[in-house]
Amino acid sequence: MRRKIVAGNWKMNKELAPGMELVTEIVASNTAQDVLKIIAPPFIHLAAVADKIKGKSDFAVAAQNCHQAENGAFTGEISAGMIASCGANYVIIGHSERRQYFGENAQLLAQKVNTALAQNLTPIFCLGEQIEQRNANTHLETVKQQLKDALFHLPAADFSKLIIAYEPVWAIGTGVTATSHQAQGMHNFIRSEINKKYGKEVSENISILYGGSCNPQNAKELFACMDVDGGLIGGASLKAADFIAIANSF
Ligand code: PGA
Repeated sequence: MRRKIVAGNWKMNKELAPGMELVTEIVASNTAQDVLKIIAPPFIHLAAVADKIKGKSDFAVAAQNCHQAENGAFTGEISAGMIASCGANYVIIGHSERRQYFGENAQLLAQKVNTALAQNLTPIFCLGEQIEQRNANTHLETVKQQLKDALFHLPAADFSKLIIAYEPVWAIGTGVTATSHQAQGMHNFIRSEINKKYGKEVSENISILYGGSCNPQNAKELFACMDVDGGLIGGASLKAADFIAIANSF
């Protein structure tokens, strides 16, 4: 179902005590009930964060990644089922840092999406172009290909469970945000590609988040765009005041 969402991707930040302080502060604050706040801490904090948000229907927990296999001899890895068993309902898949530093390609990401869905986790699927592709005006084609390669094998009933996050790689952690015009243009394009493949109902009901240097100063303008349903927040999700301000920017 399409809804307003702000998801905080902590990445590899926050040890247990400061992480719990951050969640406690966010949960205690006054954020709009109709905005779903998703917290994506490192794996080892999932159960503790889930415990903190227990009983709050406007909060949820996400993992930042999952393994593609259901279980097995994969030392050091974490399965979708384990994530779900810790009280998380979401998992970020395809973040550009996973693609870049861990060599995750479309085929692998498609497997991860399938495995997550099989464990009743909602994938927050990230896609976005590099700066070279934006400059060469191939950004639309790039994102279309990413959608096709990792997601368009899904039947409509599964596809409609997803959340999409458009994260231009050149905007992640750089302080350079996409303009609202650029964000709306890409979000509208993504929705129209989904419409072509799955029809109007699916495309109108899917939530598409923007990610990349989103902060309390620019969130309002970005979230006001017709096809922007919220944000996937990195750096600014590590400060309670900033995350709260972003959640109140609709
Ligand atoms: P950023 O990260 O907000 O720090 O740019 C966003 C993300 O990587 O999801």
